[in-house]
Amino acid sequence: MNKSQVLHWWQSGVVYQIYPRSFQDTNSDGIGDLEGIIQRLDYLNDGTPNSLGIDAIWISPFYPSPMKDFGYDVSDYCDVDPMFGDLATFDRLVEAAHARHIRVIIDWVPNHTSDQHPWFAESRRSRDNAKRDWYIWRDAKPDGSLPNNWGSFFGGPAWTWDEVTGQYYLHQFVPEQPELNWRNPDVKAAMFDTLRFWLDRGVDGFRMDVIGLIIKDEQLRDNPANPHAPANLPENATFHRLQQVYNMDQDEVHEVMKEIRQLFDEYEARVAIGELFGPLDRWVKYYGEQGEELHLPFNFRLMDEGKWTAATMQGLVDAMEGVLPDFAWPNYVLGNHDRIRLASRFGGQAQARLAGMMLLTLRGTPTLYYGDELGLENGDIKPEQMHDPQGINLGVAFTRDVTRTPMQWDASAQAGFSSVAPWLPLSADYETRNVAVQGAQPDSMLTFYRTLLWLRRGSAVLQGGSYRALNLHDDCFVYVRELNGERLLVALNFADAPCRLDVGENGRFLLSTHLDRAGTVGKWLDLRPFEGVVITL
Ligand code: GLC
Repeated sequence: MNKSQVLHWWQSGVVYQIYPRSFQDTNSDGIGDLEGIIQRLDYLNDGTPNSLGIDAIWISPFYPSPMKDFGYDVSDYCDVDPMFGDLATFDRLVEAAHARHIRVIIDWVPNHTSDQHPWFAESRRSRDNAKRDWYIWRDAKPDGSLPNNWGSFFGGPAWTWDEVTGQYYLHQFVPEQPELNWRNPDVKAAMFDTLRFWLDRGVDGFRMDVIGLIIKDEQLRDNPANPHAPANLPENATFHRLQQVYNMDQDEVHEVMKEIRQLFDEYEARVAIGELFGPLDRWVKYYGEQGEELHLPFNFRLMDEGKWTAATMQGLVDAMEGVLPDFAWPNYVLGNHDRIRLASRFGGQAQARLAGMMLLTLRGTPTLYYGDELGLENGDIKPEQMHDPQGINLGVAFTRDVTRTPMQWDASAQAGFSSVAPWLPLSADYETRNVAVQGAQPDSMLTFYRTLLWLRRGSAVLQGGSYRALNLHDDCFVYVRELNGERLLVALNFADAPCRLDVGENGRFLLSTHLDRAGTVGKWLDLRPFEGVVITL
């Protein structure tokens, strides 16, 4: 990459995911709201290093919803659930965010609606209803069994019988999330209108939920068994026992992606992000053959890797860099509302800090998950406190509630999140692990994130430089970022033991995960256990 290439905001910037139920409550119902996000914008970026200095927020769904899957069951794509506010509040949020140079990305849930959506109410009314074909209805097999073997992500079969019309409908999540038939042009047109509704209101982009599922095999063939299914899967985890061959990443989905991208391109500087799960060769196709599909197919590869070593991380990064066409921009995600907390995943706080440095120094757009900047750990959720259907159906070990606990702002009674008991219990550590406490500590996780984020903001090399891994030590993931002759070295020690690297040239410390290094580095670089450093060469 050379000087003449100007990056788009979604390439140079950092995205911060907000789970709106859990960020800030302002109307004392124990549930976060849009007004709460407005009030916390200065925390995200007030233009100074006292704030995080992020560039965009992605807000998980706030649409009207019966909340069977906490907003991913939408009953109206063009409004705000009263629990979160209203359209006027949303407009104020966009205005206030833009005033701080924060872009606003929202969620879009195209694969399924709520069963309470008026479209589904119509569709289920009779077999000859005009909207019957908007969803996926099938007869039982002649022997009365299910139309195929597909399973629901949350356990059980993907089909529910409808008494009134005597057919099954498809849902790969809860039964209250019937799946739209994207092969029907009217569905496509109606859903495209919902994109325009928000793009016209000034949103800067969408994160598209399970976008790889929207087109299914025309014949709805059975999926083959998954030989790699984890041994500890509950009996009813049908989705995960099968390979996602006929329900996901069908060739025809790319035609829809192109149309979606064309719609985005009618507007200026908007970003199309998609949630995708499949293998690398299927994933990379979502960039399009010439860059005519998604800007950023979410890359969960590092997050989903169970083995946290320098070699696995480097292997995943190199494999991804290796398949990317020139026009495609990489991105990384290490936490979200569906996965256990980063600080609970790879061993602890020290490893989480190292992960944060990796996320923010690799080549590509990073997406942060709210609270990871404090090192929030999994919430302690008792079976009777579960809300998430995944946990309720598959067992407490699978509940995503652990990663959705309220943001910890300060040591006051409800952690500054609310004035009443929150919808999910606060974590026990909130009195010490919070924004107020960590903001005042020179060596806290929050101070580390702020320092690193501002280093990144001021560094064209970190934002746009090339990436090249160096193989210096088995325990260390080391790479050079380079732009126009300027070079930075990032060295991450994944071991709980010191590590000596032969860097071979002099440099100067810009940052250590331990926040206590400055000055020059000679030939030898000594890293402490789980220490990461950024060095200018
Ligand atoms: C996505 C969302 C998840 C939701 C599911 C169904 O994976 O991230 O939270 O349950 O889709 O919409």
